Amino acid sequence: MIRSLSSSGATLAISWTAGGQSDFPAIWLRDNCRCAECRHPGNGQRLYEITDLPADIAIAGAVLEDGRVRITWSPGGHVSHFAAAWLADHDLAPAARRARKRHITHWTKSIDGAMPVGDWRQILADPRAELTFLDAYHAHGFGLIRNSPTAPGTVLEIGNRLGFVRVTNYGALFDVRSVANPTNLAYTPIGLGVHSDNPYRDPTPGIQLLHCLESTAPGGDTLLVDGFHAAEILRREDGGAFDLLTRIPVNFRFQSADADLMARQTLISVDEDGEIVGVHFNNRSLDWLDAPAEIVGSWFAAYRKLAEILHRPEGELIFRLEPGDCVVMQNDRALHGRTAFDPTKGSRHLQGAYVDKDGLESRARVLRRQLGEKREVAA
Ligand code: OGA
Ligand code: ZN
Ligand code: ZN
Repeated sequence: MIRSLSSSGATLAISWTAGGQSDFPAIWLRDNCRCAECRHPGNGQRLYEITDLPADIAIAGAVLEDGRVRITWSPGGHVSHFAAAWLADHDLAPAARRARKRHITHWTKSIDGAMPVGDWRQILADPRAELTFLDAYHAHGFGLIRNSPTAPGTVLEIGNRLGFVRVTNYGALFDVRSVANPTNLAYTPIGLGVHSDNPYRDPTPGIQLLHCLESTAPGGDTLLVDGFHAAEILRREDGGAFDLLTRIPVNFRFQSADADLMARQTLISVDEDGEIVGVHFNNRSLDWLDAPAEIVGSWFAAYRKLAEILHRPEGELIFRLEPGDCVVMQNDRALHGRTAFDPTKGSRHLQGAYVDKDGLESRARVLRRQLGEKREVAA
């Protein structure tokens, strides 16, 4: 794998047999030493503080030894070993860093016939089926589980199997059906435009589950829109609007007899490479824009533009949840809504719950490890 290496005090340069060269900075390598003095052999956790490393750490010598790189450090004479495969997996070159990012698939209405679907009994019985479902969910930002029990509370079983249910002021789960004196428009038969749930929470729930118990009332179809795809369209059509929505936060709020929840966040979040990593959109709970008066007009124009894109029919996936179906949605990407329904002509009862995203990411990595697949390095 390693053809040759050379080092200055500040950098280790590796030439690969497959071609190309990678540079590894000295302080970065020193901080990645996995020896028993640096990391606890049982759990791999770091045993020192950054301040324990010399600020002027330098590579005193680097040699190839049994396919590994052996480095001697100065000052101090500490010795570290790095496997060639580990260095290749942690290459800092732009192309390698891009390849380590999660690869996602944007979708529109046309995903109709190819939705990411899993069967609950198979997911429970077969780790391969569970991982396949989780991979499809991670790529699309949502997944549909079919054939789960229709007993009340099943949403908690699903949430706690895939991750960990987060309890809120609505409880561990919430019933979505038309009731007298609704505390939330979700508990009426009114149609709901696509939205993220609870952007007034800090942190906003990462995943929402909606599990269908009954669905005989006419209407009440589920709407899903890929918020990342919509935000990408906004960036293409109006870069200034996109930029404003990534920089200027807005207040969201929910008030009831026993809660007053408030959070401030941007409608679109991007990472350090400018890639979209979050979209939070909710017309019902958007509160007020606390921003300099001179940018208010442009912010509202940008907000309107994003809403117009989210409402375009070509982006909108529409399907009907049947009893035993549970849709698992990244709440900062797969925006959901429903059409109006008629509660006088049948019943409609869903149960919802919130789960954090990291639990499903962890579950996928653990399954990958158990199935003997190569572990994901990042993302
Ligand atoms: C909700 C919601 C959609 C539905 O409860 O958050 O958006 O299909 N419900 O009832
Ligand atoms: Zn060490
Ligand atoms: Zn909702």
